[in-house]
Amino acid sequence: MESVDFHTAKALLDWQIELGVDECIGDVPVNRYELPDKLAKPQRAEAKPHLTRGPVAEEQRDPVAEAAPAAQAATTLEELRAAMEAFDLCDLKRGARNMVFSDGIAGAPVMIVGEAPGREEDRLGLPFVGAAGQLLDKMFSAIGMGRTQADAPIYITNTLPWRPPQNRDPKPEEIAMMKPFLLRHIELADPKVLVIMGNWACAALLGKRGITRLRGAWTQAADRPALPMCHPAYLLRTPEAKRDAWADLLMVKAAVSG
Ligand code: URA
Repeated sequence: MESVDFHTAKALLDWQIELGVDECIGDVPVNRYELPDKLAKPQRAEAKPHLTRGPVAEEQRDPVAEAAPAAQAATTLEELRAAMEAFDLCDLKRGARNMVFSDGIAGAPVMIVGEAPGREEDRLGLPFVGAAGQLLDKMFSAIGMGRTQADAPIYITNTLPWRPPQNRDPKPEEIAMMKPFLLRHIELADPKVLVIMGNWACAALLGKRGITRLRGAWTQAADRPALPMCHPAYLLRTPEAKRDAWADLLMVKAAVSG
């Protein structure tokens, strides 16, 4: 193969990462049926063990059991961000460019919980900055609220802080291991109400999916009133659902104005 200079090689690698490549594949094919049993690691009977690739090679660890005390130990949002940055048991972290923690004004009466960063969010390290995010901003600005609006602020985070490769759906074990951080995030930001955007945030905070049934009905999550709403990415694909979203936004406005 023709050799390439450093900058070209780096640009090619960046391009592959942009496309979602997250694995290196060797030049020679490997027949995994012929590999000895040693590749199959023993699993602990209880829980869902996670095989780490850290210095303690192949040690089995339980990500949920480690996430809970790490999240609970944080007493400020900055400590929580640091605890999440230090949490190494979620494989998504390895493929992400940036961790996406939050945007908006902490302490705002409305906290929005989305799904996970997409390409733009991963690039910039901020939630909801792509096409869905622009619609989200328009929706909240229509009820006089915004992430930079000091007199009527919103605060935004996601169920998962790292982008899943190629924007695939979150896996249940990823949601489970990041949930203690999400719950602590809500506790520390302490909003009056939560807006649960889309199915995956419902899965994390309500333990169920089915957003078109759940939307528009107040429920309780993380010890406070919570309103499931259709995700703005869904509204972009399904403009006829915007009418219901408007009704939901008016309910959010009424809940924080009262
Ligand atoms: N969708 C989400 O749920 N969150 C983001 O940050 C971006 C898109």
